[in-house]
Amino acid sequence: MKIKIKETAFSPLFKVTYPCTSRYLIEKGGAASGKSERAAAKILLRTILEDGHRFVCWRKVGKSLRNSTFKLLKDQINRWNLKELFDIKETDMTITNKINGNEILNIGMDDREKIKSLTSPTGFWIEEMTEFEEEDFNQLDTRLRGTTKNYKQIICTFNPISEFHWIKNRFFDEYSEDKLKKVNFVTKYKDVEIEDEQVRLYTTLVHSTYKDNPFLDAETKATYESYKDIDYQHYKVYALGEWGSIGNLVFPNGFIFIDEFPEAYDDVIYGLDFGFNNPSAFVKIGIRDKEYFVEELIYEKNLSNNDLADKISEFAGDEFRVIYADSAEPARIKALNDIFFEKGIKFDVRPSDKSVKDGIYYLKGCRIYTKKENVYLNKEIKFYKWKENSDNRPIEGEPLKINDHLIDALRYAVYTYSLTPELKMAFI
Ligand SMILES: Nc1ncnc2c1ncn2[C@@H]1O[C@H](COP(=O)(O)OP(=O)(O)O)[C@@H](O)[C@H]1O
Ligand SMILES: [Mg+2]
Repeated sequence: MKIKIKETAFSPLFKVTYPCTSRYLIEKGGAASGKSERAAAKILLRTILEDGHRFVCWRKVGKSLRNSTFKLLKDQINRWNLKELFDIKETDMTITNKINGNEILNIGMDDREKIKSLTSPTGFWIEEMTEFEEEDFNQLDTRLRGTTKNYKQIICTFNPISEFHWIKNRFFDEYSEDKLKKVNFVTKYKDVEIEDEQVRLYTTLVHSTYKDNPFLDAETKATYESYKDIDYQHYKVYALGEWGSIGNLVFPNGFIFIDEFPEAYDDVIYGLDFGFNNPSAFVKIGIRDKEYFVEELIYEKNLSNNDLADKISEFAGDEFRVIYADSAEPARIKALNDIFFEKGIKFDVRPSDKSVKDGIYYLKGCRIYTKKENVYLNKEIKFYKWKENSDNRPIEGEPLKINDHLIDALRYAVYTYSLTPELKMAFI
């Protein structure tokens, strides 16, 4: 069987990453620099050209796989017109090469059962590596072992969000950042003595930015460049692909992480931020002893009012609950209420108080709990910043309006609720 794929189907750096056989292939880079596409392409090509493979694509939280690694692989199979060659199982996100039996699995670090039953993997892709603790990485590294027909490799892809991240310390610190930026990639090794023999462990570091991605449209490029004047730290990480420095955070200590949320609450409220091109964000907040327990329920783009109503309806119960929504969208609030009324869904959507500064300071004074399943909320909180003035000093009270959808939904609910305690009585 002959398969022809044009060279122009790949970004130029693929000439480096594809032939690379280092145990660790670590791709750090700015937004849309082609990292994930390169990782997916490499794994697909290897499942076609080599045999005896069982690749695993990892995300910290399993529920994010369907829209990331699994989707990228499927899109690429379609783009290359190779659908006939692969058996794609949607339910468990397994892709099998029908000719040689090679497999690609997608597993979340939180899926103990799947991890336990995983046998003889031959290669890993760790997507959004900054989500992983160093201990997670060590565990995976230890599991990629044994004699295999082809070289074993762990591909890691991520944005360099913080200079304090363990990844920088472990893999990058001994190599000059300036030099790496200039040459785009470097391979280094460490000699380890095993029973009187020196074994070389290779690591390849790759640095890329949107400039290395020939498939990107001008508007996206311009958007990344525009952050130079809006938020230099954001620009540094996402446009330049350089390690970011923290500072200037609205919630410097984040929210409080716990594993188990309470079973019963004094009250339950919901928050909703409308989106379409941006994600619509919907959160549930359980309140107990004036403490708040947040769960992200919906975070999705391109939802029409009907789609959104359907998704929200799934969370309705026997008791009426209030949803505090973005008051700038009265028509959408009405549309949702009409649908809920017609279908007997026990939600009441109300306009929220949108005072940004007051709302944020109120949140800052609350004890707010989160859990690791709140993938997107936790990410937003981690990077939610004040704007900076021209000498890089934070402008307190004025947050940067990017990646703040779930935070906004949370703020609408908690702050408006705090202003109107009598609402609790309304349905009695
Ligand atoms: N080989 C490719 N073929 C077609 N489009 C590509 C290719 N590589 C990158 N792109 C485009 O660039 C976008 C960003 O690439 P991606 O790999 O997701 O970036 P990163 O993971 O670095 O953020 C993709 O969504 C896709 O539209
Ligand atoms: Mg990516």
